[in-house]
Amino acid sequence: LAPQTLEFAVTRNESARDAAEHADIIAEPGFGKHFTDHMVDICWSEWGGWHRPRVQPYGPIQLDPAAAVLHYAQEIFEGLKAYRWADGSIWSFRPEANAARLQRSAVRMALPELPTEYFIESLKQLIAVDGRWVPSAPETSLYLRPFMFAKEAFLGVRPAKKVNYYVIASPAGPYFSGGVAPLSIWLSEDYSRAGKGGTGAAKTGGNYASSLVAQQEAYDNGCAQVLFLDSQEGKWIEELGGMNVVLVKKDGTLVTPDSDSILEGITRDSVLQLAEDRGHKVERRKVSIEEWREGVANGDVTEVFACGTAAVITPIGLLKARDFTVGDADAQAGELTMSLREELTDIQYGRRPDPHGWMTRL
Ligand code: PLP
Ligand code: COI
Repeated sequence: LAPQTLEFAVTRNESARDAAEHADIIAEPGFGKHFTDHMVDICWSEWGGWHRPRVQPYGPIQLDPAAAVLHYAQEIFEGLKAYRWADGSIWSFRPEANAARLQRSAVRMALPELPTEYFIESLKQLIAVDGRWVPSAPETSLYLRPFMFAKEAFLGVRPAKKVNYYVIASPAGPYFSGGVAPLSIWLSEDYSRAGKGGTGAAKTGGNYASSLVAQQEAYDNGCAQVLFLDSQEGKWIEELGGMNVVLVKKDGTLVTPDSDSILEGITRDSVLQLAEDRGHKVERRKVSIEEWREGVANGDVTEVFACGTAAVITPIGLLKARDFTVGDADAQAGELTMSLREELTDIQYGRRPDPHGWMTRL
């Protein structure tokens, strides 16, 4: 069913934070800790399609204890950012790609597909009331978190007939407390993130739930993120808990895993495009953990980086496993890594031309 209307009802938050509280939060946003004054809420039902789009005060969602999401985890989400340009205008990066990915996730999780124009309008509507929450300091942004889940109260196992879509937003500084300092990565040998025919390519909460013990293992071993291998052979690199990974070879070739059980990152796709524009060769193929391990040890792999909306592009210094360690935790950030990072963020913050038409004004 097509949406009935793109007209959002707007209810202003009477308890919106005052200027002093707002200034305190914006001055040190952290990541994912503070939320804006409003949220978007759109209903979907099997019989009525998408309906009742609204912007309302940010606050708790009432759920029946039998709501399907609480039992069977029928849930998907997205993550993208709003950037404030020097002239004060507010922009997002490839939001139609996030809309398309949300649709792919929806198909996999038996949820309704939200049309792209509804997705983009939902971001514009939230920014229209909460634009003051887009910070302007360097490297800051407003992280937008669209999500959708099964709200129907029913314990039978089947796709829910009632679903809601929301957008919340959170002013954000760097995802890692060390900023762009090289990360240490823990190799998960006991746990896989996703399997053949599973939900690995969907942005769904269960993938993150299954990553958490491995993420904890990473923290326990002094690492910031966990690297997952394929679940069948335990040999091929997949991705990190919340980001994709790219290796840079000595000859300037960028290599990244091709797998149908990882999340297709929009950041990765964009960075690889920028590298290709510069004449670098890009290989999307199976990449073994040995290629990383031996490559770093013998100098064939000169840089490794993580990329994602939250992480932007963050260099990886060290790979640590139960019985080996390669790289250097105190390594300098790679030159190509940092120059691609600069080019990407310059486009996002409107500091250089946008040759691919990636930016959308909100
Ligand atoms: N892989 C996982 C598991 C993620 O959570 C993310 C972050 O969204 C990514 C990759 C990178 O995706 P994107 O660049 O679209 O943010
Ligand atoms: C994002 O980068 O948007 C994510 O969803 C990943 C998470 C680490 C915050």
